[in-house]
Amino acid sequence: MLIKKLEHIAFILDGNGRWAKKQNKPRTYGHKIGMENIFPTILLAKEHDIKFVTMFCFSTENWNRPKDEVNYLMDFPKDVFSKKQQEKYIKEGIRVIWIGRRDKVPSKTREALEDIENNTKDCDQITVQIAIDYGSFEEMENSFKIVFNDISSKKMTIEDFTIKNLFENMYTKTSPQVDLLIRTGGEKRLSNFMLMQLAYAELYFVETYWPDFKEKDFKIAINDYNSRDRRFGGIKDEE
Ligand code: IPE
Ligand code: MG
Repeated sequence: MLIKKLEHIAFILDGNGRWAKKQNKPRTYGHKIGMENIFPTILLAKEHDIKFVTMFCFSTENWNRPKDEVNYLMDFPKDVFSKKQQEKYIKEGIRVIWIGRRDKVPSKTREALEDIENNTKDCDQITVQIAIDYGSFEEMENSFKIVFNDISSKKMTIEDFTIKNLFENMYTKTSPQVDLLIRTGGEKRLSNFMLMQLAYAELYFVETYWPDFKEKDFKIAINDYNSRDRRFGGIKDEE
């Protein structure tokens, strides 16, 4: 059986709103507790010697939510990645990279994200990609445009083009392909998240709402991954 070492785990952290509703709290309270669950989850990944984690926090489609909720979600990086919180990231050797479109988010949010990126750029224990205003289609459009430009300015020919050129110009250019995708909250879909980076990922869907996703759930997901035979298009080994 082929078990590839788990190097990159990606999360679609879903269920914040329903978690809050269940206890008669506003949806934003669910987001607060959910976003506070990011750091402990990174520590769990680090304990398991996982080198890359990606967290889907705000999609290019989430702008369609009510204004108050969008404002709240745009505000959370200022708290979760404040100077004080950054010290914890640096102490643990966590490098933070923001993946997503940078020109639509409010300037204070952009500053908070770029600040933690700069201050953790030499951290080398684990890399965490925070996806904010991220969508796979937008990422691909962007990457194609760069490649088309290279072709039209004759830096590259069409014949030379390979899929590698697209990957090299994506927000995720410093991370390997995803090994395991975990989506909390019970929905079974990808929601325009890292479509190309998930090409061979193992998919894991769990009912647990994101704010309730803790060490026990994490271990069950990892064990599930370790029980899968990853053949990458090959065939099963002969018994
Ligand atoms: C995920 O939780 C939060 C975001 C990443 C925006 P939701 O807000 O989607 O929670 P539900 O699905 O409504 O419960
Ligand atoms: Mg949802």
